[in-house]
Amino acid sequence: MRRKAELHLHIEGTLEPELVVELARRNRIELPTFDVEAIRARYDFANLQSFLDVYYANMAVLRSEQDFHDLAAAYLRRAHDQGVRHAEIFFDPQAHLSRGIPLDVVFTGLSAALKDSPMPSALIMCFLRDRGAEEAEQVLRAALPYREHFIGVGLDSAEVGYPPSLFRRVFEMAAAEGLHRVAHAGEEGGPDYVWEALDILRAERIDHGIRAMEDPALVARLREERIPLTVCPLSNVRLRAVPTLRDHILPAMLDEGLLVTVNSDDPAYFGGYVEDNFVALRDELGMSEDQLDTLAQNSFKAAFSLG
Ligand code: ADE
Ligand code: ZN
Repeated sequence: MRRKAELHLHIEGTLEPELVVELARRNRIELPTFDVEAIRARYDFANLQSFLDVYYANMAVLRSEQDFHDLAAAYLRRAHDQGVRHAEIFFDPQAHLSRGIPLDVVFTGLSAALKDSPMPSALIMCFLRDRGAEEAEQVLRAALPYREHFIGVGLDSAEVGYPPSLFRRVFEMAAAEGLHRVAHAGEEGGPDYVWEALDILRAERIDHGIRAMEDPALVARLREERIPLTVCPLSNVRLRAVPTLRDHILPAMLDEGLLVTVNSDDPAYFGGYVEDNFVALRDELGMSEDQLDTLAQNSFKAAFSLG
């Protein structure tokens, strides 16, 4: 199995149905069903928003430091088993704050798991773009006492209608704190969202970025500046950004000389962890061992130093 870094992974997206049920029982939370197969059967998504609705609803079971610890510890074990040797992990504090879970619970629980990680790992705090810039600025200010717990900021959730330009100021604040900057762009949104992430947010990596391929000038910019793109093939199929894996533009991105990487995004929902993505690229898309080696090597080139 190839060694790789995972750079696009939402920790809340690793909440497997088994853990949903276990945490619901632990926290005495009612669920519509306690049958894990029935929960999994609902993971049939028409687009990003239909996934996000389920993703946010399931988070109701995450309440204590121990819950956040157990979630991250389970991911780290599983990722290590899949050849991950460096992990940069997104989390969505606003999705917990809005349910009355304090930032301290989230940071303390996740950080405790990362401290015992089998490989180097770090947190990237994401802003939910559909909650606007003012709330993002509030959460960044509230997170600064935990500055040593995270290495960067990201931008996720519903993309279309919430362009990167709305978040200029909060990304400037993050840069002034020495934080790394990444942003989801070009997943459902067009190339203009990727341009804005680069020019306005000064994003150092683009999460997804598949629609950048519609704009040759943008492809040239990404290639010349060696901007990494964290592509998530199984996610793109499950959220219907591409019809089937055979239609995925990833091989063309490699042919263009882009610094592309493979990642699992929300593996509990999309049918596989990162090695499962590599296997599917080989078996369903027919990518060669050399291409897969390049993708794995790219992931370490695209990683932030955790030092
Ligand atoms: N939050 C979790 N997964 C996401 C994705 N694929 N796109 C945007 N926001 C997300
Ligand atoms: Zn994502």
